[in-house]
Amino acid sequence: ANSGNRDKIGIVGSGLIGRSWAMLFAAAGYHVTLYDTESGQVESAKREIRLQMERLEKDKLLRGTLTADQQFELISGTSSLAECVKDAVYIQECVPERLDLKKVVFSELDKVTGSRTILASSTSTFLPSQFSDGLACKSRVVVAHPVNPPYYVPLVEIVPTPVTESWVVDTTQTIMTRIGQSPVTLKREIPGFALNRIQYAILNECWNLIEDGVLNVEDVDKVMSEGLGMRYAFLGPMETAHLNAEGMENYCERYCNSMYAVCQTMKPTPKFEGRLVKEISDQLSERTPIGELQARRAWRDSCLTKLATLKKEIAEN
Ligand code: NAI
Repeated sequence: ANSGNRDKIGIVGSGLIGRSWAMLFAAAGYHVTLYDTESGQVESAKREIRLQMERLEKDKLLRGTLTADQQFELISGTSSLAECVKDAVYIQECVPERLDLKKVVFSELDKVTGSRTILASSTSTFLPSQFSDGLACKSRVVVAHPVNPPYYVPLVEIVPTPVTESWVVDTTQTIMTRIGQSPVTLKREIPGFALNRIQYAILNECWNLIEDGVLNVEDVDKVMSEGLGMRYAFLGPMETAHLNAEGMENYCERYCNSMYAVCQTMKPTPKFEGRLVKEISDQLSERTPIGELQARRAWRDSCLTKLATLKKEIAEN
């Protein structure tokens, strides 16, 4: 990441994701202003960011070339939306996932931002046109959807509305790359974007395998964590196929019939309701009781940290 940026980023909503974004932008040298409507949120965000940065620095995991102190100094807070967006080149909206709220926030942003400010939403489920329709700023709106925890998972899905101008998409891509994330840009908005569409396809089949009594919950998860997931951290399903034969054309020639035949036996989309919900939930809770979710999340994040470090090492060698 370069440390020469002096551009300003505004963060609207200082919860879990707003805090992560603030750290990513500051690591690349951007000035960041955090805003929230809830009193105390901005201050608690800053306190937590400071602690996290110090911990990361101690563990030699802090991003960028600036020290934790220098990065923290780039972050300020405000309870005024106008102050948050003033002179900002890019706004990252991170308010709770409610359509009515997103609409209100974007209509407020419409009033207080100029024609050169990008308005990006962190939404994981709403199409950008759903909360920008009818607003003058619509051509400056995109989704920039992170994956939790963004500090260790670099993918960002950029999703334009049908009228988003190309400079908005291009600049968002550039900013995401500059902060060390890996953007992909969808050509058009589509429910679930790409990550969740793929995630749901996997979840559907896992659910059906459990429902049909082929595998239990633990073993379904093992198929991913000990099998497919091992590859997918480094190459996607397309390149996996390319390598699993003498190239993709050969893969399709060899496997198209058997693949199609298997897929014909797949069941319709499950509804994720009924008795199986409790059964799956009970099996999961046996391994990780609800009271221990936080500890297990910390373990997951530490695994992802190590994986991110490994991937970085591999990329550099
Ligand atoms: P959160 O609940 O942790 O934080 C939301 C913050 O927004 C709170 O501090 C709240 O006080 C503040 N807020 C509420 N109304 C506001 C307003 N009108 N103006 C400014 N601030 C306001 O939520 P979280 O998890 O950070 O999610 C934020 C967004 O990020 C959501 O759209 C969510 O779908 C998306 N996202 C979340 C991920 C996750 O794993 N938590 C992953 C990817 C995206």
